[in-house]
Amino acid sequence: KRVAILISGSGSNMVSLLDSMTGDHPARPVLVLSNNPQAGGLEKARARDVATAVVDHRPFKGDRPAFEAALQAELERHAPDIICLAGFMRVLTAGFVQHWQGRMLNIHPSLLPKYKGLNTHARAIEAGDAEAGCTVHEVTAELDDGPILGQARVPVLPDDTPDLLAKRVLVQEHRLYPAVLRRYAEGDRRPVMLP
Ligand code: GRF
Repeated sequence: KRVAILISGSGSNMVSLLDSMTGDHPARPVLVLSNNPQAGGLEKARARDVATAVVDHRPFKGDRPAFEAALQAELERHAPDIICLAGFMRVLTAGFVQHWQGRMLNIHPSLLPKYKGLNTHARAIEAGDAEAGCTVHEVTAELDDGPILGQARVPVLPDDTPDLLAKRVLVQEHRLYPAVLRRYAEGDRRPVMLP
């Protein structure tokens, strides 16, 4: 299976995905694509000999469909079977998502369906939750919705700050996403629930 990874920032999830696709793994990375020319993940991808591309969203201003047409053109050049959104911070239209439905994954730093959207760790702390975590799900037209393919849980500790909790969750993201991608690439849709 050919995998394209979309990023906007440091790409720590991208790195864990790239480093997992070795040996007998059913998937290979064919592209790392960023909307942000400054994304730190681009250099990490190049250092791993993975093709990279940038489609800067800013020249498209509010014209989301035109931005997505440029994304689509770049993706078609590499013909991925699976797209992994990994710290990709642009909302995708229903049209784009429908085209890739059933072939596009995302990782979200909360135990969905709780805390869709942003500031997930601050919200979990504010709510007094005993635990938090991350979710990998299939991307559908509704933001941070879609069939859950895996989750990992961490405790919320007394005096936790959003930054401390984010760091604890990120460690689990780096375990969860590679585990889900391997199972997904084998055609197995059973959720991965990490202890
Ligand atoms: C992570 O919290 C991830 O859950 C969210 O973006 C953050 C940064 O991800 N999607 P990365 O380090 O760029 O992979």
